[in-house]
Amino acid sequence: MSALHSATHISPSILNCDFMRIGEELDAIANADYAHVDIMDGHFVPNLTFGTAMVEQIVRRCPVPVDTHLMIEDPDRWAPAYAEAGAASVTFHVEAAAAPVRLANELHAKDALVGAAIRPATGLDAVRHLLPHLDMLLIMTVEPGFGGQAFIPNMLEKIRQARELISAENLPVAIQVDGGVKRETIARCAEAGANVFVAGSAVYSADSAYEEIEALRTLANKHAHTLA
Ligand code: DX5
Ligand code: ZN
Repeated sequence: MSALHSATHISPSILNCDFMRIGEELDAIANADYAHVDIMDGHFVPNLTFGTAMVEQIVRRCPVPVDTHLMIEDPDRWAPAYAEAGAASVTFHVEAAAAPVRLANELHAKDALVGAAIRPATGLDAVRHLLPHLDMLLIMTVEPGFGGQAFIPNMLEKIRQARELISAENLPVAIQVDGGVKRETIARCAEAGANVFVAGSAVYSADSAYEEIEALRTLANKHAHTLA
């Protein structure tokens, strides 16, 4: 697979898949680049999902690498266990991290790619100093917590500014967008500078997850910002 920062990657979120058939739901996205697994603790966001035991099993079964998105309090304490569970990438929220550089180093030492996420209300100033320590910046395009919400168009300007910042310093950092990403919104995200696309309901409510992933990838490539 191409380096995370230098090509288009599609990472379907399994949040809205059929959990009673999770193995088959994972097989259905075998043409994706990653599987996006949302970890929620019922505190940082008003929803509760998976722990490390579940992630370990998902990693074992999943045909593609697992991209974990931790919407949890105290990631300094809990995030390393997701790298140990075999996640290819671990993304924590900067709003919740006490010592994000130390945490990023710890996750890298456990062989995970490291992302930092910001909620819609959090500005880029909160992550600027962190960029040299990251593989990915996740710009939330909905309020974190649930799938199926509408994309917040104001976030496009944040994506543009993040891409400028990353290009200006020539940093190998991917920009991921998560929330309301579908055929109608992916082109604008790609043009603005995002290159890793999470799509949950768009993929799992489609007749064919495979076809939807191909359609999203084609659109993203067609509108891709020139990546450094
Ligand atoms: C929301 C999660 C997303 C969610 C996206 O907090 O982080 O990954 O599953 O779902 P859609 O694509 O339906 O907006
Ligand atoms: Zn997510």
